[in-house]
Amino acid sequence: MQEESLYERIGGDEALRQLTDCFYDLVFEHELISRLFKSDKELIKTKQRLFLTQFLGGPELYSDVYGHPRMRARHLPHTITEDDAIAWLQCMSQAVGSLPISKDLKDELFNRFPRTAFFMVNS
Ligand code: HEM
Repeated sequence: MQEESLYERIGGDEALRQLTDCFYDLVFEHELISRLFKSDKELIKTKQRLFLTQFLGGPELYSDVYGHPRMRARHLPHTITEDDAIAWLQCMSQAVGSLPISKDLKDELFNRFPRTAFFMVNS
């Protein structure tokens, strides 16, 4: 039998809705990184939820709608520094912490982000 994906183990779509709601509430209020987010909050929440679904081993929802993720290229129009990545990760850590899952699962989930976040640094 195939092992359950991280997407399924954290609670699937419902967990990602909760995560992205909490995460973008923090990001849009953040003193350093809110400056970067100028488009619609609900739209970016939805894009992130679709992306994280596939990033965590669930169905390829983001690619179905938006094509190949090319995440670094999609971030290039935004000036992202190392401090921005750290702030992004702090918001994500807090959002992950708010989920009703075990400490081990929270750690496993959060650990998926630092490498990708630092890969987005372009300035
Ligand atoms: C390093 C810190 C990061 C910063 C400062 C950042 C910033 C941004 C900004 C400014 C946008 C555009 C938002 C808008 O349309 O208003 C964006 C889009 C997005 N970001 Fe990030 N990001 C970071 C890291 C990440 C990471 C680590 C991921 C995935 C794990 C991610 C996934 C996405 C997705 C899925 C979108 C939507 C792309 C689209 O337009 O289809 N970002 N990000």
